[in-house]
Amino acid sequence: MCPPDFYGIEYEINPWMSRSIPSDPDRSRSQWKSLHDLLISLHVDVRLLEPVRGLPDLVFTANAALVCHDVAYLSSFRHAARQGETPVNEAWFQSQGFRTVPMPTGMYFEGAGDALFCGDTLYAGYLVRSDAAAMQWLGQELGCRVIPLQLVDEHFYHLDTCFCPLDHQTAIYYPPAFDDYARRALSQIPRLITVDEEEAAQFACNAVVVGKDVVINAGCPKLEAALTNAGFAPHATELSEFLKAGGSAKCLTLRLDGETAAVWPLVR
Ligand code: ARG
Repeated sequence: MCPPDFYGIEYEINPWMSRSIPSDPDRSRSQWKSLHDLLISLHVDVRLLEPVRGLPDLVFTANAALVCHDVAYLSSFRHAARQGETPVNEAWFQSQGFRTVPMPTGMYFEGAGDALFCGDTLYAGYLVRSDAAAMQWLGQELGCRVIPLQLVDEHFYHLDTCFCPLDHQTAIYYPPAFDDYARRALSQIPRLITVDEEEAAQFACNAVVVGKDVVINAGCPKLEAALTNAGFAPHATELSEFLKAGGSAKCLTLRLDGETAAVWPLVR
């Protein structure tokens, strides 16, 4: 995670961002700290990245890279406003003992925001931010099956805004964010929990999964009930300041030790 010291709405690169609706620094800090403390209470070992002035979206560490074992496949951001984050992330991963691999030139890729493991498959969102070619390249590098999912609604511009694997056969998703082919591909997952338009706009799908515990933004009672029903324990925490930038719980974190929903050999 990266503390929100320099977080703010300084540019507009997705439909949620408007410079005329700024974030409140004090509320941002306290909401971020509540998320951080909630994860600690769930026994998560949180590592911090030092914030950098001029990189307001660095708080969204999900976009730093896709991490698999000790390798970090670094992001290559589509928008110039975020491209300065990559060298900062690269230095951090190297200082923590990860091997870093850059994307091939000319391919955009926005890390775990667009690439999520479920079972032995890497589900990969493309079109708005990441390129389909980057996902195929990653599949070859990782030696795993990749299912590219086309994102069709600019409001759900990263895969983690409309899809969240909970375990190797269960996932949350918001169907209208995908094209027909992607919806058909996702229907291969045995248990799908559907989120409606209202809760999708509260970033219900942007959840942090820690075993059976699922951390989400406040204001998603229908998803909370569905999670409880499916045997998961929902934990809601207010993240409204980060919705102003188009992010929520999952975007504010990057899992370093393998996702709960991934199966061996993808996790250690
Ligand atoms: N303002 C950021 C952007 O548009 C938000 C990133 C949210 N991250 C995520 N993984 N969905 O790039």
